[in-house]
Amino acid sequence: MSQPYNRVYNFSAGPCTLPVEVLEEARDGLMNYQGTGMSVMEMSHRSAAFEGILHEAEANLKELMKVPDNYRVLFQQGGASMHASIIAMSYLKQGPKPQYITTGTWGQKSMEYAKVVGELDEIYSGKADGYRCAPDFDSLPINPEAAYAYFTSNETIQGVQFQQDPNVAATWVCDMSSDILARNVDVSKYAIIYAGAQKNQGPAGVVTVIIRDDMLARVPENMAPMFDYRVQAKNDSLYNTPPCWPIYMCGLVYQWVEREGGVSEMNRRNKEKAGLIYKAIDESGGFYKGHASQEVRSIMNVSFTLPDEALTERFVKEAEAEKLDGLKGHRSVGGIRASIYNAFPKEGCEVLAQFMRDFAARA
Ligand SMILES: Cc1ncc(COP(=O)(O)O)c(C=O)c1O
Repeated sequence: MSQPYNRVYNFSAGPCTLPVEVLEEARDGLMNYQGTGMSVMEMSHRSAAFEGILHEAEANLKELMKVPDNYRVLFQQGGASMHASIIAMSYLKQGPKPQYITTGTWGQKSMEYAKVVGELDEIYSGKADGYRCAPDFDSLPINPEAAYAYFTSNETIQGVQFQQDPNVAATWVCDMSSDILARNVDVSKYAIIYAGAQKNQGPAGVVTVIIRDDMLARVPENMAPMFDYRVQAKNDSLYNTPPCWPIYMCGLVYQWVEREGGVSEMNRRNKEKAGLIYKAIDESGGFYKGHASQEVRSIMNVSFTLPDEALTERFVKEAEAEKLDGLKGHRSVGGIRASIYNAFPKEGCEVLAQFMRDFAARA
């Protein structure tokens, strides 16, 4: 099975594969975007054409995620990591200590960033068992009065994914970087959702922040304007020069998701795709071992190990020769990680599953 343009199956965790149609659309508009005589990369962010792109992207994301009217969508810079810090700087001291639920590396990092700002409570940590699990929200000692309650919906490195929205009232803040638009979420359950673009939305360089109006109102007066969500909202994400090209690309991806059937269809496909690889793991007689516990397996990042390091290296090398790229696991977990975001084609998962079976048989 060959891919268009002789492309590889790109299992990279992010930046990652984008829909071919989106890349073609971007290419076609590169020299002259819709008769403006220039590309979006060369266009003033104050031009009517760019403002149109920005507002359409915002409207499309709102539509796809059914974002209620009392939320704003911001397109921000600084990466998801910076927003973990901004959130702590903005809200950590507003009420009893915030509560952190850490189910993997990214939650752990966000918590460390927050500790620089002040005290917090880690009410769940998956660290002791190597980050394989995620708790039920209603099993946790959630304090609804706490400044906020924080979690990472999908841990990209460990492949651990919460299977539902929080079902307990709290000021929920969620890093949804690696599963936004992969499954339906009830935005009204959250105070803030933020997500780096470089997995399910577009290229690196922009972060979407979905924030409830009352959280905007609560930004402390002494925040630097660039870190002040209220300032960013008031200026429609145009306080300073925004990452115009990544925003444009995200807009094209949102349109692609819509054309393909929306978030529900993405979810259906993702489950099917992930199922193919988990099946190959589960039917390998223990040759492959999934990292995450069965009930919290991610449909975005499938992390698994082989019996030893030498086999893992051979697996990666032989997979590359078959155009299965980017499978080496993160150094902290080792093994293999197959990232299969929305734009990753099902055929790539079929090819990987078959490769896994063949490899195990000949190893
Ligand atoms: C879940 C999650 N959160 C945060 C980050 C950090 O994102 P950034 O590199 O944009 O700061 C990543 C990066 O892979 C991630 O997967």
